[in-house]
Amino acid sequence: MTLSSARMDSHSPITVPVPLGDRAYDILVGRGLIESAGTRIAALGARAAAIVTDEHVGPLYASALTASLEAQGLRVCVITLPPGEATKSYASLEWVCDAVLAAKIERGDLVVALGGGVIGDLAGFAAAVVRRGVRFVQVPTSLLSQVDSSVGGKTGINSRHGKNLVGAFHQPSLVIADTALLDTLPLREMRAGYAEVVKYGLIDDARFFAWCEANWQGVFAGGHERDEAVAQSCRAKAAVVVRDEHENGDRALLNLGHTFGHALEKITAYDSARLVHGEGVAIGLALAFRFSASLGLCPMADAERVEAHLKAVGLPTRLSQVPGGCGTVDELLDAMAQDKKVKGGALTFILARGIGQSFIAPGIAADEVRRFLTGEISA
Ligand code: GLY
Repeated sequence: MTLSSARMDSHSPITVPVPLGDRAYDILVGRGLIESAGTRIAALGARAAAIVTDEHVGPLYASALTASLEAQGLRVCVITLPPGEATKSYASLEWVCDAVLAAKIERGDLVVALGGGVIGDLAGFAAAVVRRGVRFVQVPTSLLSQVDSSVGGKTGINSRHGKNLVGAFHQPSLVIADTALLDTLPLREMRAGYAEVVKYGLIDDARFFAWCEANWQGVFAGGHERDEAVAQSCRAKAAVVVRDEHENGDRALLNLGHTFGHALEKITAYDSARLVHGEGVAIGLALAFRFSASLGLCPMADAERVEAHLKAVGLPTRLSQVPGGCGTVDELLDAMAQDKKVKGGALTFILARGIGQSFIAPGIAADEVRRFLTGEISA
């Protein structure tokens, strides 16, 4: 079974359109795209580009991307930041904005985000505010950013009040997802990004979930299955974003597994040595399905199937697997209550009636969650 239809041959990228009217753009998915990125980016019509990257990714790919852009006659500067979540800060934003201005990037020019989610979010936000908005291109270098954060236009930084609380919707003009860049990604990061791939099947595409069960080894090994998985994830995300760009409704479905996942990230103090985002999401997906089953909404067999697949790829699925512990039920509830999806004291969850049948469930009583978590913690 193949999931892609827009591919001309094995060397041409899969193109996933994001039809957002005057903000429409393409996501290109394929191996080796970074080498031809200059041609594709130059086609957007800029004269100069500021590449924003970090100290891990920059040394690997910034010179190839710079050469590819310069070969098309673009003036290029490279802005390099420290890696890690701490870079999504006001201080880094100021640094990037000033560096972009110093490089004389004009309204018609481009910011190019070369990195994972942190760089994409920060560079995208800088592009949204410098000169009241310049265009930007995402060149995501992690699986997580290729299938999630580079698509859909959410940009931003963290505040002392929480993650991603300062930002803007600013759609990229192009996304170039070079899947060969994932060959050197640590296995743990690959698995963590894969949790978001699985999520798209669980939201509304049981066929894609079954495809993941059958093809995940190829995704990890870097075969054509990897391109198919990234492209299908981008199609799924694009479809939701086109329906609800600013998250007034359906876009919240993309938070399947994230209410529990964010709480675990908070409890582990965002310490990536203990838990990375995708691992929190994996546990959160398993919990969301078991919670749905415990509420009588979803067959337990589906929850078991979700857990079995996540376990097969080496992802955690239980609270007991959080290194250093997941805290008490009260601490978990407290962390969830501080999540931005709380409205009027009630918790909003994304629950499921089965694999591929997720829905937004507002007004879930804290007592139901407490009862469920008490069982999970003692399991
Ligand atoms: N990562 C969720 C969203 O883009 O809405």
